[in-house]
Amino acid sequence: MRRYKERSNLYVSRSKILIGPVQHRDCFVPRNDALRNNIMFSVNNILRNNIKNLTPYSSARDEFQGEASVYLDANENAFGSPLHEQYNRYPDPLQIAVKKRLSEIKGVPVPNIFLGNGSDEAIDILFRSFCNPGIDNVIIVPPTYGMYQVSANINDVEARKVNLTVDYQLNMEGIAEAIDEHTKMIFICSPNNPTGNSINRTDVETLLANFNGIVVVDEAYINYSRQKTFIQELTEYANLVVLQTLSKAWGLAGLRLGMAFASEEIIEVMNKVKPPYNINEATQQLVLQALQNVDQVNHWIKQTLLERDKLVLSLKRFDFVQDIYPSDANFILVKTTDARGIYNHLVGQGIIVRDRSKVELCEGCLRITVGTPEENVTLTETLETMSLI
Ligand SMILES: Cc1ncc(COP(=O)(O)O)c(C=O)c1O
Repeated sequence: MRRYKERSNLYVSRSKILIGPVQHRDCFVPRNDALRNNIMFSVNNILRNNIKNLTPYSSARDEFQGEASVYLDANENAFGSPLHEQYNRYPDPLQIAVKKRLSEIKGVPVPNIFLGNGSDEAIDILFRSFCNPGIDNVIIVPPTYGMYQVSANINDVEARKVNLTVDYQLNMEGIAEAIDEHTKMIFICSPNNPTGNSINRTDVETLLANFNGIVVVDEAYINYSRQKTFIQELTEYANLVVLQTLSKAWGLAGLRLGMAFASEEIIEVMNKVKPPYNINEATQQLVLQALQNVDQVNHWIKQTLLERDKLVLSLKRFDFVQDIYPSDANFILVKTTDARGIYNHLVGQGIIVRDRSKVELCEGCLRITVGTPEENVTLTETLETMSLI
């Protein structure tokens, strides 16, 4: 099954940028040899040695996968659970039923899907699989999602910061300069949190075609975006990992289910490193039910986009709003004259937004999630009372 190969055009427009490979400095080739360059990428070359040699934990559910009438192999409580639903048995370690349903929705074969306890777990597992603590580094492009830096810190991996440009796009020259032979991953969030915009596709393709490490494209907000997903590029680029989550448009943040889509080799490594039962049974069952409700989710996405436009219009009226950045996500970044003052006023009225004013390139900014129509009206009415103060 190769349904996810849809694209035909590998042309990338930024022609002058050469980005150093991780392992083989002598692999530099001219930009327009993009595909050939990509062939140099090999998961084995960038994998940590201890992971390459790791014998993964083999659970009872790994060792016997058929149907049986008596299960005495996993030290579970055979009597049941003190609940209406029965959770006394360990869940499927590879979550095959959920992956099969996701495969239908996303058009990605099951062996190319990894499921994590939120996409945060997938981020952490990528660090643990590919980055040697104290030796390797990754590139992050602030302002961006904070967990890339935190996961790097937890794993004792240097996160090299190459700030986005003033229009919140990739600084390609800066990225090229920051890469060295120990650079294992580049994290790109698109649409980006907290700025809300999508990253230029051709820039991401330039990285994919020229960087001999992993390019992680975090698409947590892709369902709200006018841009196409990078999932369809998986057959072109062996070094691509696409992250998505059920925490945003799917409305399942409390269940914790994140997805990574990548080559079979990368997914095999991630499955080897993950805790054996990382997705609990309740989550697996509830997610399977939720994945039947695609129409409901699509309806909410449309509603959120309409509400986002309305919210932008009503916020523009306020004197203290200096700018509202274009958003491809379910939140907007709003530049104000007094972010802290507005934040405190809203908190006083029981409304919480995110103060991003201390973040470089987001000075004066609040990040506001699009709520229900009623919540958005409450927000703007509360801001009106502030303008009168
Ligand atoms: C860009 C981005 N990636 C990942 C996540 C985490 O998602 P999950 O809930 O699947 O761990 C978030 C959460 O806010 C996010 O903004």
